[in-house]
Amino acid sequence: MAGRSQAVLCILLSSLAAFALVQAEDPYLFFTWNVTYGTISPMGVPQQVIMINNQFPGPNINSTSNNNLIVNVFNNLDEPLLFSWNGIQQRKNSWMEGMPGTNCPIPPGKNYTYHFQPKDQIGSYFYFPSTGFQKAAGGFGGLRTNSRLLIPVPYADPEDDYTVLIGDWYTKSHTALRKKLDAGKLLGRPDGVLMNGKTGKTGGKDDEPLFTLKQGKTYKIRICNVGIKTSLNFRIQGHSMKLVEMDGSHVVQNVYDSLDVHLGQCYAVLVTADQTPRDYYMVTSTRFTKYMLSATGIIRYVDASGAKLGGPPSSALPEAPVGWAWSLNQFRSYRWNLTASAARPNPQGSYHYGQINITRTIKILNTAGPVDGKLRYGINGVSHVDGETPLKLAEYFGVGEKVFKYNTIVDDPTDTKTIVAQPNVLNATFRDFIEIIFENTEKSIQSWHLDGYSFFPVAIETGKWSPEKRKNYNLLDAVSRHSIEVYPKSWAAIMLTFDNAGMWNLRTNLWERYYLGQQLYFSVLSPNYSLRDEYNIPDNAELCGLVKGMPMPKPYTP
Ligand SMILES: *[C@@H]1O[C@H](CO)[C@@H](O)[C@H](O)[C@H]1NC(C)=O
Ligand SMILES: *[C@@H]1O[C@H](CO)[C@@H](O)[C@H](O)[C@H]1NC(C)=O
Ligand SMILES: *[C@@H]1O[C@H](CO)[C@@H](O)[C@H](O)[C@H]1NC(C)=O
Ligand SMILES: *[C@@H]1O[C@H](CO)[C@@H](O)[C@H](O)[C@H]1NC(C)=O
Ligand SMILES: *[C@@H]1O[C@H](CO)[C@@H](O)[C@H](O)[C@H]1NC(C)=O
Ligand SMILES: *[C@@H]1O[C@H](CO)[C@@H](O)[C@H](O)[C@H]1NC(C)=O
Ligand SMILES: *[C@@H]1O[C@H](CO)[C@@H](O)[C@H](O)[C@H]1NC(C)=O
Repeated sequence: MAGRSQAVLCILLSSLAAFALVQAEDPYLFFTWNVTYGTISPMGVPQQVIMINNQFPGPNINSTSNNNLIVNVFNNLDEPLLFSWNGIQQRKNSWMEGMPGTNCPIPPGKNYTYHFQPKDQIGSYFYFPSTGFQKAAGGFGGLRTNSRLLIPVPYADPEDDYTVLIGDWYTKSHTALRKKLDAGKLLGRPDGVLMNGKTGKTGGKDDEPLFTLKQGKTYKIRICNVGIKTSLNFRIQGHSMKLVEMDGSHVVQNVYDSLDVHLGQCYAVLVTADQTPRDYYMVTSTRFTKYMLSATGIIRYVDASGAKLGGPPSSALPEAPVGWAWSLNQFRSYRWNLTASAARPNPQGSYHYGQINITRTIKILNTAGPVDGKLRYGINGVSHVDGETPLKLAEYFGVGEKVFKYNTIVDDPTDTKTIVAQPNVLNATFRDFIEIIFENTEKSIQSWHLDGYSFFPVAIETGKWSPEKRKNYNLLDAVSRHSIEVYPKSWAAIMLTFDNAGMWNLRTNLWERYYLGQQLYFSVLSPNYSLRDEYNIPDNAELCGLVKGMPMPKPYTP
């Protein structure tokens, strides 16, 4: 009895210590989310979608660097639910990552409170449900992190700040789509594209605007591709866009007529209402597809009192660019602004990634093939399967070997034809500086995302990668980001330091493939098991699978 209460006291004290560490004096923002099914008709036919507080897409989270975000999620769906925070690094805190390998899902009818900080981050992000193909039904929304007042941003304060979530869309429910994937079939072409939950009608005079612009003022527009299959191009009738930020980094401010927004990516642009006052269309359409799907949304010029100015939009929509060479050139035009402040007062470019020696090179190759007669996707021959027990919890509670093996794949695979289904975990040495090469031998575009970090995409080139290609790397001002596209028959190289202890998902953003196993987890353990490197498991953590009912491990100490 005494031993037990001592242990409880010990846990209490240590979680108080963690509490103090995590939260410091940063302000708290509280959110309560009621997650339910709802029926709406974004494509003209009624369908079941996932709503948050009756909203589709979900509410925007507006935060500032280091804020404590407290999101109490009530799962009123009839299946387990998990939210992940795309691009938020969860430093020392993979406990809040919200992936099936890090957290137990919230059971139906239950609630769970996420508590995390966008620590030393600024920029445009989004959240999404990470299990059960639910992302195809909604449950996503924008998440913005503003710079703290004392830290200068490399552009004048915009008049307002708008979020545009674009993504391809199916009219079938996520459960119907899931059934198809479970049977080993792919989904085929999407039914359409949505912009903030709508397709828009061109030529419809009665269309309500998504946003209003005061004449002469400059606005920030954040565009994220929350879709599941296709790259999208985004453009605005009669207006150019000044790119200022992507995936959380201030960039050199080039001006573009249109932007390719690949799966999982976010871009922030400045748009000035300096054209003839009237309504204008924002347009988004599919890229690199045999079909052409698009959506529109209206921006409306208004006067100082908010009254509409001018007439309806012109029905002549700006065209999308053609071909992927255009897109590769656009990628190559992106540059990190080395002198702009980061989320902290130091310049972004003060971290000289180009001068660090690479200690490990990992090649990531697509594998596809049947497992038990059904199509699966994998990385380097292994198709990841999520078990009952999240990997992070199994590792933390010391039962990892009952759940997964480390290093199921090799860094430099030769055979990528055979495919086996099992948990796919690679361990990485804490603070190693590594290079990851994504090789795309396919005729279609790929897109990859890494949780827990931002990385430097130092090159994308056509053909095959070899070590000599390193001489072409951008070792100076590649934009630090978390998602990267890889063009057909091309490769991309990224570099990063594994300085964030935790269990982190590397995944394709092609959601059919993600669901069918094209992902892995990096286990990054600090050898010191210290609170300096990783927070303790939060005391409200949901426990499931093998670790349910197990005594809490000895907490980390300072
Ligand atoms: C959530 O929404 C459902 C359906 O609208 C409603 O029945 C339920 O009471 C709501 N729960 C909370 C906690 O607001
Ligand atoms: C977002 O938060 C910032 C900082 O608190 C505030 O200045 C701004 O008005 C907010 N924007 C919206 C759209 O709520
Ligand atoms: C569930 O919600 C209640 C009421 O808001 C809250 O007190 C409780 O901490 C929540 N549970 C979890 C596990 O977050
Ligand atoms: C980079 O940021 C600095 C500092 O805020 C700013 O003065 C400069 O104009 C920016 N450079 C470009 C090319 O955008
Ligand atoms: C990187 O490697 C080179 C060649 O092996 C060596 O001379 C240099 O000292 C190393 N630099 C660092 C920062 O470790
Ligand atoms: C991976 O983790 C295992 C188990 O902790 C350890 O024995 C091994 O040395 C690690 N390998 C690397 C490359 O870190
Ligand atoms: C572990 O702690 C020791 C002693 O404090 C320190 O010298 C070492 O750098 C730490 N290792 C890591 C990987 O942080």
